[in-house]
Amino acid sequence: MRIVAAIGGSILVQDYSSDKFLEYSEILKELSKEHEIFVVVGGGRPARDYIGVARELGAGEAKCDDIGIEVTRVNAKLLLLGLGDYAYQKVPHNFGEALEYSASGKIIVMGGTEPAHSTDAVSAILAEFVQADILINLTSVDGMYTKDPKKFDDAELISEITASDMMEFIKNQDVKAGTYEFFDMTAIQMIKRSNLETVIANGFEPENLVKAINGEKIGTRVISE
Ligand code: UTP
Repeated sequence: MRIVAAIGGSILVQDYSSDKFLEYSEILKELSKEHEIFVVVGGGRPARDYIGVARELGAGEAKCDDIGIEVTRVNAKLLLLGLGDYAYQKVPHNFGEALEYSASGKIIVMGGTEPAHSTDAVSAILAEFVQADILINLTSVDGMYTKDPKKFDDAELISEITASDMMEFIKNQDVKAGTYEFFDMTAIQMIKRSNLETVIANGFEPENLVKAINGEKIGTRVISE
C-alpha cells in the first residue's frame, strides 16, 4: 500500500525528548518493508514558541507561518536521523519533490509547504498528489468526538463519519477550541473531493499506525459518501 501518515508535532516533541522519534522510527522501518511510506510531521510546541517570538518582533501572519514551517522541517530532519538509511535523507519542500524523492524507494519525510494551512492539509494534499491508498492522521486525541472531550464528560468518540458530515460538524463548532483544532478545513475538503480513505487516531500510541493500516477499528474512520 501507498501510505501517507501525518504525525502531530505535539506527539513527537511533547517534551523535547527523542522517545517518540525512536518509537516511530522503529515502526516506520518495519512498515516500509511492505509499504511505500510518506510521513508529514507537525511543528508542535517549538513551532508555537517560535511563532510567539516572531509575533512579538512584529511579524505578520504569513511570516509567522513561515517560521512554523521551518520548525516542522527541523522535526522532519530529526525523524530522518531516527530512520537513517531507511529514509531519503532530504526533506521535500513541495509535493513534486516528495514524489521525485520517492523514486528512491525509501521513506519520505516532510514538514510544511507554504503559509495559510497546517500539516493536516499538507498530508491530505500529499495523499491526493501521490494517490495514496490511505491517509492516517496521528494526533493528540483518540479521534473525532461528538463534543470537546476536554470540556464535556459525555463526549463520545465517533467511529465512522463521511467527509461531508465532518465538514458540517466542524463548521458548526468552535473550530479553535480544544479538540477541534485538530483538523483543518482544507484537509477535509481534499478528503471529500478525492474520497481519500482516512483514519484519525491517537498518535501517543505509535502502534495505532499499524492498527489503522491493518483495518482495525480504531479512532475515527472517514468513510465514502
Ligand atoms: P502544524 O500546526 O501543522 O503543527 O504546524 P502541529 O504540530 O500539527 O500542530 P499540533 O500541535 O500537533 O496541533 C505548525 C505551524 O506551522 C505553520 C502554521 O503556522 C502552523 O500552525 N504551517 C505549517 C504553515 O503555515 N504551512 C504548512 O504547510 C505547515
